[in-house]
Amino acid sequence: MPKAIIAPSVLACDFANLQAEATRMVKNGADWLHLDVMDGHFVPNITMGAPIIKCLRPCTEAFFDCHMMVADPARWVEDIAQAGGNMYTFHIEATKDPVSVIHLIHKHGMKAGVALKPGTPVEAALGDVAELADMILIMTVEPGFGGQKYKEECVAKALTLRQRYPHLDIEVDGGLALDTIDSSAQAGANVIVAGTSLFGAPNPHEVITTFRNKVNE
Ligand code: DX5
Ligand code: ZN
Repeated sequence: MPKAIIAPSVLACDFANLQAEATRMVKNGADWLHLDVMDGHFVPNITMGAPIIKCLRPCTEAFFDCHMMVADPARWVEDIAQAGGNMYTFHIEATKDPVSVIHLIHKHGMKAGVALKPGTPVEAALGDVAELADMILIMTVEPGFGGQKYKEECVAKALTLRQRYPHLDIEVDGGLALDTIDSSAQAGANVIVAGTSLFGAPNPHEVITTFRNKVNE
C-alpha cells in the first residue's frame, strides 16, 4: 500500500492569513495542501479559484492538491495548471467523459484525481477511470462545506478500491479527525484530508502524526 499523505484543507483556515496558515501546516508535518475550489454550481458554496492558488504558489513548495468542486471540470484545467496546481481532482458526477478529462489534466502536466460523492457507487470509478487516474477521492461528507459529520458508510468504497488497486492513492475527505480516522485507515485510504480537526487543533503536529501512524501501521 502507498505511504500516508496528510493534506490539510485550508478551507478551515483564516483566509485573511492564508500564507501563514498554509506554511504553519507544512511546518507541522503536512505533506500536501488541499485546496477546495467551489464554483457555486456544482456545490452550493463559493471559495477560491486559480488567482488565489497562483498567489499562494510562491509561499511554499508543498504539493497543491486541488479539489475541483465545479460543474465543468475541463474548463479550469489550464488555469489551475498555470497557477501551479499539482493534482487536479474533479468530480465524476460533473462529466460524461471522465477519461477525456484525465487525459487533458495529464496533458497539462498535473496528476489527475477523480472524486466520488457519498451517493455515487464505486463501480463508477472501476476499470478505465481507476487505471488512468493517479488518485481516487472518496468523499466522506457531501461536498460544499467543512465541519460536517463523517459518513463512515462511505469507506466501503475505499476498501473495494484498495483490494483491486493495491498501489493506487486513495484519498478520503470530510469529517476526518482523531475519532474517525480508524475506519478510513483500515479500509486502505492513504491520503487523509482534514480541515477542522487540523486547523482547530492546539497541536496540529500531534494530529498529523497520529493520522500518519494509523495509515502506515
Ligand atoms: C468539503 C471539502 C473538504 C472540507 C473538509 O466539501 O471538500 O475538503 O474542507 O473539511 P473538514 O475536515 O472540516 O470536514
Ligand atoms: Zn476537499
